[in-house]
Amino acid sequence: MTSLDDMASDWGSYQGLKTVSVSDQFKHASIQRQREMLPIYRHRDSITYLIESTQVVILIGHTGSGKSTQLTQYLHEDGWTKDGKIIGCTQPRRVAATSVAQRVAEEIGCRIGETVGYSIRFEDTTTEKTVIKYLTDGMLLRELMIDPLLRRYSVIMIDEAHERTIYTDILLCVLKKVIKKRKDLRLVISSATIQAHEFAKFFGDKSQIISIEGKMFPIDVLYLSEPAENYIEKTIQTIFDIHIEEPDGDILAFMTGREEITKVLQAVKDRSFHDESSVRLLPLPLYSGLSQDEQNAIFDPTPPNTRKVIIATNIAEASVTVDGVIYVIDCGYVKVRTFDPATKIDSLIVTPISKASAVQRAGRAGRTRPGKCFRIYTETCANELDEVSSPEIQRSNLAMPILQIKSLGIDNIAKLDFVTPPPVNLVINALELLYSLKALDDYAKLTIPDGLRMAELPLNPMLSKVLLASASYGCTEEILTIAAMLTVENVFYKPRDEVKAADAEHRKFTVEEGDGLSLYNVYQEFVRSKKSSKWAYDRYLNNKSLVKAVSVRNQLVRYLQKLEVNVIKSSVPATADIVRKCLTLGYFSQAARMQPDGSYKLVAAQDVTVWPHPSSVMFNRIADWVIFTEIVEVNDKIYILGITTIERDWLLELAPDYYKVKRR
Ligand code: CDP
Ligand code: MG
Repeated sequence: MTSLDDMASDWGSYQGLKTVSVSDQFKHASIQRQREMLPIYRHRDSITYLIESTQVVILIGHTGSGKSTQLTQYLHEDGWTKDGKIIGCTQPRRVAATSVAQRVAEEIGCRIGETVGYSIRFEDTTTEKTVIKYLTDGMLLRELMIDPLLRRYSVIMIDEAHERTIYTDILLCVLKKVIKKRKDLRLVISSATIQAHEFAKFFGDKSQIISIEGKMFPIDVLYLSEPAENYIEKTIQTIFDIHIEEPDGDILAFMTGREEITKVLQAVKDRSFHDESSVRLLPLPLYSGLSQDEQNAIFDPTPPNTRKVIIATNIAEASVTVDGVIYVIDCGYVKVRTFDPATKIDSLIVTPISKASAVQRAGRAGRTRPGKCFRIYTETCANELDEVSSPEIQRSNLAMPILQIKSLGIDNIAKLDFVTPPPVNLVINALELLYSLKALDDYAKLTIPDGLRMAELPLNPMLSKVLLASASYGCTEEILTIAAMLTVENVFYKPRDEVKAADAEHRKFTVEEGDGLSLYNVYQEFVRSKKSSKWAYDRYLNNKSLVKAVSVRNQLVRYLQKLEVNVIKSSVPATADIVRKCLTLGYFSQAARMQPDGSYKLVAAQDVTVWPHPSSVMFNRIADWVIFTEIVEVNDKIYILGITTIERDWLLELAPDYYKVKRR
């Protein structure tokens, strides 16, 4: 696609170079060299040619071959961003969207928001200059709501499609319709080998597969001879065994979540303090929700005489590549979100990984030279693993996705062409919830304006309902704050050796009505302190989360304005009762009642016992009826979070349809 126009613009940028300092030029050259060394580079012409001639290209390549960071740049260089068009690349995870964008900006030599930007929920860094846009798959679905044919895009790359997140699956289904109307639009589906044919079958003769899989270095896979009693302890021990016995090379250990990662991290720090070897262990965490700085530390080159130990969630399985890893420790588990339509519990459950995942994890060790993978499970266990994990669409709460699909004007979900259709009971469950929230009418059509507004608000339907209802309850100011604070994570901060002091500070904000109103107090005081980071620090509050909450709240205010929600302004703050009632209006389906032993029974599934999560202000507090915003299952114990006390009668008053069966 090279033309005289391109050459003219090359000349323009060459002239611009004069202002760049000498050291900058050298840095740039080395980045160019790195780009050329990536496996995808040799396939550049064949891939870009295929994209010109075929509407859907399915791209297979090992992790780290350069798919996510390079292809968008090739397409940009080849002219796919002329005439105001842009290239989009979706990622299943927020961390991947931000870190890949960061890397590409660095390679191009621009700041985020210039040529390259990313857009994730509550954080859009793109500007009118941006032509390479990384975004989460969920965000692209939101863009479809505004521009159903995605006219601004010339190419859309659905990255990590084999992960089969719910939004990736929905995008594939909607984009299949879009490309019929937009013959000039190109799709690139990046996938692991194992799923590629399924995608090819789905897109039919419009699609072609191209593989850039090269050789990998051999990986020595080792198993435990006996099952581990505790895979966290075993992982810690294995880290030190590798450190003592194996030659240099960084370690990547897979854990299931932030808590486990923190545990391992702390243990490595503590024990390596007494370690006398000349090579230092440098433990680093990697999970979603890390700050940009913490994330960047992982990509910094390993300092001399140091061995990096990256302790990561499943993010490191494919979405994020870290160079220099020679040793992989695979605990064999992953946290997956699973929704049970019978109990209506949406939980994060630690489950065994699939064979495909195990292979992928091991593969992280053989990128630059032969490596080793230590599996913290037996070979017998490995043979019993499922081949692939089930697509998210088959085990998720579909309320939000269905609401969004409906707002795209697609009314009959059953008629949609999915790669794998969602199970009927999940669809019915979602329709029931949406109906009880009055987002859908008796004919399962989106209600105007409320259903439509709920689809557009970037909150789950229950919280959207609360926010919209707050307008007539006269508590919008309070609910905006609570919604923002519920959206950000880890507001309360408890250093391990200062738990008591932290608890004492935190108690000053907590009220017996529960988490929502306690978080509200924190926010109010933070604003009163003029958003002082010192104020937050002294009170063991996470300043970053609070700053983020301020930003989220402002964005929600703008949404309400855009959606023309008529907010009743009252001169006095709403009472706690009004706020709690308003919360019940959205979360009535997640109600529970306390038992004498301090546990709770769910109203929707009476045989299920749940416990207040230790991070909730309701932990070790007496209550009667409550609602909660989240439920998680950890080690066979189910915890509820975001708890607010309510009155039993409110459930019957505010959700008579939902509770009519129980009233009889
Ligand atoms: O998408 P794929 O797994 O094929 O590879 P990629 O994410 O494009 O990564 C290609 C290379 O870019 C990696 O090997 C890393 O060296 C580098 N990279 C980086 O340094 N920092 C990032 N945030 C992402 C990639
Ligand atoms: Mg990638």
